Amino acid sequence: MNVFNSKSGKTGSEKPGHLSGTRMIPRVTVQAFCENSQTAQLIESAMNDRRMSKVALTTHNGSIQGAVETYRSNPTPNLILVETSLSPENIPAALEELAEFCDPNTHVIVLGHVNDVLLYRELIRSGVDEYIVLPTDANTIVFAIAELFVGEDAAPVGRVMGFVPAKGGSGSSTTAHNSAWIAAQTLRQEVLIVDMDLPFGTVGLNFNQDPPNGIADAIDAQENLDAVMLDRLISKAANNINLLAAPGTLEKPYDLAQGDFEKTIELLQSTIPLIFLDFPHVWNGWVRKTMSVLDEVVIVAEPDLANLRNAKGLADSIRALRPTEGSPLLVLNKVGLPKRPEISPAEFASAIDCELIEQIPFDAALFGTAANNGQMIAEVSANSKANEAFGTISAKITGREIPQATQKMGKLDLSGLLKKLKKA
Ligand SMILES: Nc1ncnc2c1ncn2[C@@H]1O[C@H](COP(=O)(O)OP(=O)(O)O)[C@@H](O)[C@H]1O
Ligand SMILES: [Mg+2]
Repeated sequence: MNVFNSKSGKTGSEKPGHLSGTRMIPRVTVQAFCENSQTAQLIESAMNDRRMSKVALTTHNGSIQGAVETYRSNPTPNLILVETSLSPENIPAALEELAEFCDPNTHVIVLGHVNDVLLYRELIRSGVDEYIVLPTDANTIVFAIAELFVGEDAAPVGRVMGFVPAKGGSGSSTTAHNSAWIAAQTLRQEVLIVDMDLPFGTVGLNFNQDPPNGIADAIDAQENLDAVMLDRLISKAANNINLLAAPGTLEKPYDLAQGDFEKTIELLQSTIPLIFLDFPHVWNGWVRKTMSVLDEVVIVAEPDLANLRNAKGLADSIRALRPTEGSPLLVLNKVGLPKRPEISPAEFASAIDCELIEQIPFDAALFGTAANNGQMIAEVSANSKANEAFGTISAKITGREIPQATQKMGKLDLSGLLKKLKKA
């Protein structure tokens, strides 16, 4: 978000000389807080631009204060557009309050009524992505949003999280799908699950869908794969839940090359905010290669000896493959399986030197019902311990706190935006 360097001295009211290409803006969520109905109309007309067709916009009546009230108890979207008629000296303090409730990855564009270069510079320095002076036109709004998400300096919008089973059947796919589901529900952002187990993947079954070949076709296309084709291969399973499903058929072998997922993941990263990769229990060249692009890796294991041996091997290898990243996170699943002697969770975690983020209890009836009905645990039993565990996993790996006013005050990681604000 190096807006200041690229535009220093320019106020938002200047017309952009060119538009940021013709690239589509990714499937991001935008919430606008407008004090005047003309501003709301302006933003809505910007959303009619072809490049905005995947963007989900909600407009609210309100100012910075209105946004603060909203985000006290609601998740922040990918971008907040907020109109303010405060005087320049009061704007930074009002935004500082907003920053307290903002996720560090959330972008903020301020729409103001004062054309003031000093104010512009101060806001940009404090972490605001752009300050646009009203009145303006729809093109300026589209340009500012395009710069954030597809501009030269734009970071990839997608966070990629991989779930790796320590042993077949340890529940890695179940954990990935349920955590993705909760992320979609609580954060209200577009989530994609990629089933990387081509012959045996269960994402279609678990969401009670019969989607097309998805990931297999994406891999087959390789160099010809582009965003438009990929879009056609993604199927929608529920509100905010998208799937790149596996064929789940055995008509042909799937001998994948090391870089086979590379192009697909790269394209996905620039289209969807939250990407959950469901890895099979294999250790191939492509698995190792894919590790390097993940923002977070979760090892799902059962608390027995074979799982421990495998989890240790995985944790050590993954650390070696990602020397500059943190250790993988550990989830223990099927804990408390009747009559099974189990390794204690604390011992398991310390033996592989990974943070234990959750323990999911064994519950044959609950998981069996969900699996057979093609439902998520949240749909079968929202108040179960297992579902609570998926909530914690989801919040931890997406880096997003579950938005409950009380929790949000205490635990939210404000480091990004707050640090920037303090520097100002
Ligand atoms: N905590 C649990 N309690 C009972 N059964 C579970 C639990 N977690 C997963 N299962 C079941 O275990 C089986 C294997 O799960 P799956 O997620 O496909 O494993 P993996 O992807 O690691 O091979 C599925 O039938 C699933 O419903
Ligand atoms: Mg699996």
